[in-house]
Amino acid sequence: MVVAAPLDVARLRADFPILREVVNGHPLVYLDSAATSQKPDSVIQAVSDYYRFANANVHRGVHALGERATEIFEGAREDVAHFVNADPRGVVFVRNTTEGLNLVAQAYARPRLGPGDRIVATEMEHHSNLVPWQQVRDQTGCQLEFIKLTDEGRLEDESVSRLLQRPTRLLAVTHVSNVLGTINPIRDLVARAHREGIVVCVDGAQAVPHMPVDLKELDADFYSFSGHKMLGPTGIGVLFGKPELLEQMPPFLTGGSMISVVTLERTTWTEIPHRFEAGTPDIAGAAGLRAAIAYLTAVGMETIQKHTAELTDYAEEALSEVTGLVQYGPRGEDRAGIVSFNLEGVHPHDVGTILDREGVAVRAGHHCCQPLMKRLGVAATTRASLYLYNSRGEVDGLVAGLGEVGRIFGARP
Ligand SMILES: Cc1ncc(COP(=O)(O)O)c(C=O)c1O
Repeated sequence: MVVAAPLDVARLRADFPILREVVNGHPLVYLDSAATSQKPDSVIQAVSDYYRFANANVHRGVHALGERATEIFEGAREDVAHFVNADPRGVVFVRNTTEGLNLVAQAYARPRLGPGDRIVATEMEHHSNLVPWQQVRDQTGCQLEFIKLTDEGRLEDESVSRLLQRPTRLLAVTHVSNVLGTINPIRDLVARAHREGIVVCVDGAQAVPHMPVDLKELDADFYSFSGHKMLGPTGIGVLFGKPELLEQMPPFLTGGSMISVVTLERTTWTEIPHRFEAGTPDIAGAAGLRAAIAYLTAVGMETIQKHTAELTDYAEEALSEVTGLVQYGPRGEDRAGIVSFNLEGVHPHDVGTILDREGVAVRAGHHCCQPLMKRLGVAATTRASLYLYNSRGEVDGLVAGLGEVGRIFGARP
């Protein structure tokens, strides 16, 4: 495993078996890590080892395997807490970012909000951080409004100031846009919101995998992210909630593992965070997530962020040379490794299909951000997303593939 900065990408890639795949006769160029990241051998091994040597249910076995499984699962909680600098009592295991955000919507917002209150989100939210709040609006009669975007794809400050005041009770905002790559100033937004008594729920799906995240420093009240976007397995995610808020919340799902005492008439809840983990959790996923965190930590989150930032600059530069190509999102320090674009006169699905023929995997569509597409005035975009295992050579492969698209559609000589 690579530990030195700058990143030795060629060596690091050897840890990811899938990157040796040949797709449509070409070596795979995987530029879709914002959708889901690839997994190193150590993560795959950790999941397999769990089933081989430790498989049992957690928190209930009096036998040795039960203890092993519980140690792995609770150890994962400690590792997550350490990774994002958070109190482990606030670390709730969920399936993914989406479930974490729904948990906050239903167990925090729904019981508290009503007519006269307001939830504020932004025009750049993924549907996962938008639809749950529409549900709460419809269930409680509260208002739902949106912070507008500048043409560069940043939050419009005037809109932030207007909406971060009464009657707003909750701000739902993404840390990093999955379309524009914009890194929102979460620390500043949280400080401004807290001055007005507004609780902040952050969608960290595109942040935790790509940059150092310190939840104590950010001071967000809720923060949700997915294991599968940070080298971990699918099926496990994290909702962090401040313990003092979680303590006051009813469960989201009910059943086994989250109770204290049950009679036929009623039930009392167990302590946090277990109160929010009804049923058998994804123990194998937790084992894999631990290994993912170990891998990311060994490489170094600063190193990963720096590598991706350099690669993004390189990609932006290279793409700006492509005839008829329009890029979206801000240029500057507040930009993560996501490059969205359109080629004049070519539908993104055609771009994606032709790139796939060249072995280049990108995402084409609305990226679960239909309101943002509307704001950009497009139906869809093509998105290349970069991660620690991507190289300049792969960006060159993308540009060459776009040349092929241009030739087919007659947009380039
Ligand atoms: C910004 C953002 N939020 C939320 C999600 C949803 O993540 P998941 O499908 O893992 O719940 C994604 C996934 O693409 C995302 O990019």
